[in-house]
Amino acid sequence: MEDKKYWDNYWVDNKEKHTFFNTLVDFARKYYFARAFAAFLDKNYPVAGKSVCEIGSGSGLTLSYLKKMGARECTGIDYSEEAVKYAQANIKDCKFSVGDAFNLSSIPEKSFDIVYSLGFLEHYNRDEQKKLLAEQSRLARECVFIEVPYNSPHMSLLCYLNRKSGRTTTFSDEELFSPKTFRELGLTGKTKLMPNTFFITIGHFEHL
Ligand SMILES: C[S@@+](CC[C@H](N)C(=O)[O-])C[C@H]1O[C@@H](n2cnc3c(N)ncnc32)[C@H](O)[C@@H]1O
Repeated sequence: MEDKKYWDNYWVDNKEKHTFFNTLVDFARKYYFARAFAAFLDKNYPVAGKSVCEIGSGSGLTLSYLKKMGARECTGIDYSEEAVKYAQANIKDCKFSVGDAFNLSSIPEKSFDIVYSLGFLEHYNRDEQKKLLAEQSRLARECVFIEVPYNSPHMSLLCYLNRKSGRTTTFSDEELFSPKTFRELGLTGKTKLMPNTFFITIGHFEHL
């Protein structure tokens, strides 16, 4: 519950508090990263005609790019009401609803062709990550995609500097992933570095 409060505040701050870091992240997400994530996903698993769902959809921006790339139906789920309001206000051609990724039992299994998460799994411990992946896989018909921060020297340095300056959670104390981390989670699909995100993130595709 504490974490949900953190994310509610994060999305309210994002809208209202224009600190240097918030503005920078918001700008980068909007004009570069969301588009880069969508292009990476589409290149490795073409989305045209597919139904796509993002878990922990936050701003919803990546979904909006996937819709423009030809995805048939785009759905975002987030447990922060503030995130859902923010996404609904800005993106009209995708659906957003409130839901907890640990329990999406109101959604039948295999409801979407592709189910993905971005910047999400690294905020949870290993047991929680396994539960989240099981729920994500339950909803998917064809493919699960996971994007997380990469355990690269420059990402570690960025997190270290942020921690030093008192920042918590995003870009500070979340887990950094390598191909080994995905294996530890019991996944057997393809792990790929993401050059178009300057190697600060890594992606994994699990085909069902
Ligand atoms: C770093 S943000 C991801 C942002 C998003 N991918 C974007 O492009 O804007 C993580 C998001 O996951 C959501 N989240 C965290 N835990 C969740 C849970 N258990 N169920 C649903 N959403 C969750 C948070 O509310 C937050 O919006």
